Amino acid sequence: MEETTFIMIKPDGVQRRLVAPIIARFENRGLTLVAIKMVNTSEALIDQHYAELVNKPFYPGLKQYMLSGPVIAMVWKGKAAAALGRAIVGATNPKESAPGTIRGDFCNDVGRNVIHASDSVESAKREIALWFKPEELVHYVPCDLGWVY
Ligand code: TYD
Ligand code: MG
Repeated sequence: MEETTFIMIKPDGVQRRLVAPIIARFENRGLTLVAIKMVNTSEALIDQHYAELVNKPFYPGLKQYMLSGPVIAMVWKGKAAAALGRAIVGATNPKESAPGTIRGDFCNDVGRNVIHASDSVESAKREIALWFKPEELVHYVPCDLGWVY
């Protein structure tokens, strides 16, 4: 099976009505949407999602931001999906987010950076299992693909 990655439009992305333009970038790059849902997150879910960061000084602010409104949780599939997802999203620090990336085009504050992308295949597996039930992943064969990408 092809690689999958977890992508989440953060509360500011939803509030700023960036859902459609963000999704278009993943479709345009040739990734396939496997799962999508709008979620009112919880403290427990955000603590688990950012388990590696809970002791960082910026974590309280990050958590408050992530709980400030609904998010769009997605799974995207395709060749090197995890690395490609990171490339489409751009660098964490806005000073380094290249124009043409989502963060490089839509934000200028590390604490309001619009979108999350798994940082590795292993992280993607963990995050997909955290946010989705197995039956929520809809794998299908795109009818127009095979020899064109
Ligand atoms: P991190 O996993 O390091 O970045 P990324 O989202 O690119 O994988 O951090 C998670 C989020 O935490 C990041 O998107 C924004 C926030 N954050 C801060 O607010 N301040 C910081 O100094 C860092 C490193 C991250
Ligand atoms: Mg990260």
